[in-house]
Amino acid sequence: MTKTITVFKGDGIGPEITDAVLKILNAAGADLEYEIFNVGAKEYEKNGKLIPDEAFTSFDKNKVLLKSPITTPVGKGFRSLNVTLRKKYDLYANIRPAKSNKAVKTPFENVDLIVFRENTEDLYVGVEEQIDENTVHATKIITRAASQRIIKDAFEYAVAHNRKKVTCVHKANILKMSDGLFLSIFYDIAKDYPQIQADDKIVDNTCMQLVMNPQQFDIMVMPNLYGDIVSDLTSGLIGGLGLLPSSNLGKDYAMFEAVHGSAPDIAGKHIANPTALLWSACMMLEYLGQNDVAGKIRKAVDEVLNEGKHLTPDLHGTATTEEYCEAIIAKL
Ligand code: NAI
Ligand code: MG
Repeated sequence: MTKTITVFKGDGIGPEITDAVLKILNAAGADLEYEIFNVGAKEYEKNGKLIPDEAFTSFDKNKVLLKSPITTPVGKGFRSLNVTLRKKYDLYANIRPAKSNKAVKTPFENVDLIVFRENTEDLYVGVEEQIDENTVHATKIITRAASQRIIKDAFEYAVAHNRKKVTCVHKANILKMSDGLFLSIFYDIAKDYPQIQADDKIVDNTCMQLVMNPQQFDIMVMPNLYGDIVSDLTSGLIGGLGLLPSSNLGKDYAMFEAVHGSAPDIAGKHIANPTALLWSACMMLEYLGQNDVAGKIRKAVDEVLNEGKHLTPDLHGTATTEEYCEAIIAKL
């Protein structure tokens, strides 16, 4: 049965990469219908709402969202829409796979790791309090329930996909109580998965190890802030943000988006790499059971990357977003 999904077009390069991805999905024969909405900073300026009510209603109904990046003002202005969406729909598991592609030259080979980022709490609860003009307090929240479910998902994923190891990333040496709780829950849950190796690393050491010896990592699970930072780092290991997809899963809702932002520096220049959003769409197709279509798209992308004739500038090519997209469609 045809599945109707909600699509948010977003800001900056969002509209360009969304158009490219929808074109490829159609060419690949994805059994999907789309309800497409403009959301984000532009929409806010126009209509005073970041997300129009109809867009929320559509996601409420369809329960699956393909979302392109949204600009969030730094320092002042509205709260991040991404954080709001993740919280409102309880999209607690942010899963970010970083896998080397032979065709993309980087100093690192055979990277194949997945970051499981807790997506609903930690410092991202956004509670900041002005104590006096020289002091601000920010609240970091770690709960047993939220930690348990993301850690459990990481181990379940490891079992289901034949992975060997889960590493907990934390700063429990300093944040003894909050990250300490996360870490102790990790080792409690690890006992239920004796077939999976479990270890832990402090987040700063993790960053160093990731650029010295990324192959040692397999599945990684961590609180929200470290997951945000570490996953941008892992994108650098495989060729940049243009290649890092993600799924944001909850019990009832699922949202798929690239890890990167709205890239205002290249918006409108027709050079954005749509692969991260396209692979996010593949994760969505797999979530919906359309594995054959996802497989077809992944194969076509691999072929185009391997040929190297139609790469976007972030991958040291000269192709436009549209030329890259046409090359993929030609392979389909
Ligand atoms: P960014 O991820 O937008 O860009 C960082 C750098 O990577 C830029 O040089 C950009 O040109 C490049 N880049 C990113 N995606 C690319 C792609 N697909 N193809 C080629 N190059 C790409 O991060 P930045 O500049 O820090 O943030 C810009 C805005 O995006 C901010 O307002 C931020 O809050 C927002 N943002 C939104 C996210 C979301 O909607 N999920 C996630 C991250 C940031
Ligand atoms: Mg981020």
